[in-house]
Amino acid sequence: MAFTKNILCIGAGYVGGPTMAMIAHKCPEYKVTVVDINAGRIAAWNSDALPIFEPGLLEIVGHARNKNLFFSTEIASHIAEADIIFVSVNTPTKTFGEGSGKAADLQYWEKTAREIVKASQSDKIIVEKSTLPVRTAEALERILNANDKNIHFEVVSNPEFLAEGTAISDLRHPDRVLIGSHETKAGLAARTIICDIYAHWVPREKIITSNLWSAELSKLAANAFLAQKISSINSISALCEKTEANVSEVARAIGADSRIGGKFLKASVGFGGSCFKKDIMNLVYICESYGLHEVAKYWSSVIAINEYQEHRFVKAMLTAMFNTVATKRIAIFGFAFKADTGDTRESPAIYIAQRLLEERAVVVVSDPQALQNARVDLKNAPGALEFVDDPYRAAAGAHAIAVCTEWELYKTLDYKKIFASMEKPAFVFDGRNILDHAALFEIGFNVFPIGKGALKHF
Ligand code: NAD
Ligand code: UGA
Repeated sequence: MAFTKNILCIGAGYVGGPTMAMIAHKCPEYKVTVVDINAGRIAAWNSDALPIFEPGLLEIVGHARNKNLFFSTEIASHIAEADIIFVSVNTPTKTFGEGSGKAADLQYWEKTAREIVKASQSDKIIVEKSTLPVRTAEALERILNANDKNIHFEVVSNPEFLAEGTAISDLRHPDRVLIGSHETKAGLAARTIICDIYAHWVPREKIITSNLWSAELSKLAANAFLAQKISSINSISALCEKTEANVSEVARAIGADSRIGGKFLKASVGFGGSCFKKDIMNLVYICESYGLHEVAKYWSSVIAINEYQEHRFVKAMLTAMFNTVATKRIAIFGFAFKADTGDTRESPAIYIAQRLLEERAVVVVSDPQALQNARVDLKNAPGALEFVDDPYRAAAGAHAIAVCTEWELYKTLDYKKIFASMEKPAFVFDGRNILDHAALFEIGFNVFPIGKGALKHF
């Protein structure tokens, strides 16, 4: 069959792979190709051992792959044949020079833009899929349109709102799709073309359009608001622990107000993931660069509370365990930054493991999907460190269990059996409030939840 459009995505990561798989699955008349400089990643996309773990992903990839969905390392030739190019390369925080630790590192983006110019022979729509600082499109257009081939590139912003672990259902049933463009004739025409892709499966009323700058800024603002909700409830969790209030009850009571809403009010050991911190730091940097220091300070506090929450968790462990964990075996249940993913980027478990190792504990990391990444994250961490798949083996002989990821698996373990295998007194620090605390206490554990009174036998 002759395809009606050639869509290319540059960047085959957590966003590029699943997003393009969904577009290919829903739009069989389009040819969708995903390219990456990482040959290993592309080989994995072409196999049944996909490079990322995401429920339901293999099924939709399998449905479209080698029919209208292709993964390749041949970037230039695919740029040349594409009508629409989504760019979904990484935009990490800068670790050097001006803006180090805050600003977005746009080197991968700029390199991609220059590759596009070099390999193109015809007009194209360039879609910003990565999360970018507001007004990036301006710089991008200058690079793209400074070509002497008489080619016009129209830049559209289409930020991605999927969350890891639920990427496929988020893509299938998004709350909204956001498409920002210039409000010129060419900009509006490009906007319509991108809207038409999503209209294959997303109801029209959920496809929101805006100007380019609003779309770019909305992505940063959405992540900042989500993270701010978590930091707000986490700040209240600290007060709950002092006052015998219960943070789950408080969250339920305030979340029932539809103006507040019940989602993202789960108190935790802290938020992780590749984007919340990065995008807030980026927002802070942009505000500072416009002289909006009060605004920058406000958003910085969301990160400060998150760090405080991680710090508090380790402090609570130390205090409860008689102010020393040296030589004590501590099982960390869950290393991924959230359940249903193997991703450990910015996972609170990294900080917790490192701090416990500094305190000379024997740290045993267990996780159903993230052990490979955990090994990389902790490769330079000094001290006694083990990686154990089986949570029963991880907990055997331990003084404490620290739950860092809300995997369903941990809710259904036989804690009587685990208790019997542990040193006494045995402790559980539930950094996700997922376990049955009363039942654990009944078994004999000393239980330390987040934002609730501890249950202690002494
Ligand atoms: P990722 O690191 O998983 O993937 C990025 C890919 O781009 C890598 O495989 C890398 O090799 C490739 N790449 C870099 N430079 C390239 C080049 N010049 N040519 C070809 N390929 C190149 O990143 P990700 O998690 O998919 O995130 C991508 C963007 O999407 C980021 O801006 C992020 O903020 C945003 N985002 C991520 C998520 C998420 O859940 N991970 C959700 C929404 C938005
Ligand atoms: C987040 C956003 O939810 C997505 O909309 C966005 O597209 C994405 O960032 C991005 O830009 O990368 P993600 O980080 O994958 O998605 O996962 P979330 O479900 O948002 O969880 C982030 C962190 O917050 C996790 O560590 C999670 O455990 C924690 N969290 C979440 C809480 O501690 N409490 C909550 O109530 C919710």
